[in-house]
Amino acid sequence: MSKLYGDYYSGIDVINLKFIGQGTQGKVYFLPPNKVIKIFHSNRSCKDQFYILECAKNSRFFPKVYKHDDYSIVMDFVPGVNLRDYLAKNKLSKKLAFELVELVCEFERLGFTRLDIRAPHIFVQADESIIAIDPRKTFHIVQKYPKKILGTLRKFGYLDQFFSLIKNKYSDKYSHWKNL
Ligand SMILES: Nc1ncnc2c1ncn2[C@@H]1O[C@H](COP(=O)(O)OP(=O)(O)O)[C@@H](O)[C@H]1O
Ligand SMILES: [Mg+2]
Repeated sequence: MSKLYGDYYSGIDVINLKFIGQGTQGKVYFLPPNKVIKIFHSNRSCKDQFYILECAKNSRFFPKVYKHDDYSIVMDFVPGVNLRDYLAKNKLSKKLAFELVELVCEFERLGFTRLDIRAPHIFVQADESIIAIDPRKTFHIVQKYPKKILGTLRKFGYLDQFFSLIKNKYSDKYSHWKNL
């Protein structure tokens, strides 16, 4: 049954939208046909995430933002499976290994000081390209290498394979990360 009264964020009535997920900062609803609206508990975390996504607006590694207000952001729906669930069922391909390195290179290009993101926030697409959601503290935390990403690869038994896949193409990253 539809509710009668509206609940508006970014000019959109969210009351009958399908809920797709939540974390500590807010709740996310599907906005047909291909967007989501994320509603934050706090104005501050909304502002912080909007700022980061704005900095990354030309990047293929992040969802595009269409609208926002003090408590919400409308952005692309990111299909796919998060990296943790993906690696539980699929092998690590060369393409995915390269994508993970490219994501970290993109963080560097964007001037992030945190060169890492948690696996549940990395979505693997059907073509094995990746998109990151929920970027946080990217200019606050200082993390010079992708500790959590490498940790996930280790957990699923793919760390050695990852390093041998990236060794030639990304020799600088290989030597830096391998020797930590
Ligand atoms: N743009 C998106 N496309 C698809 N699913 C999303 C998107 N943003 C968030 N989600 C889903 O909603 C969940 C919660 O979103 P997230 O941004 O991580 O919220 P929080 O900041 O509270 O942790 C995610 O784990 C993911 O499953
Ligand atoms: Mg989250």
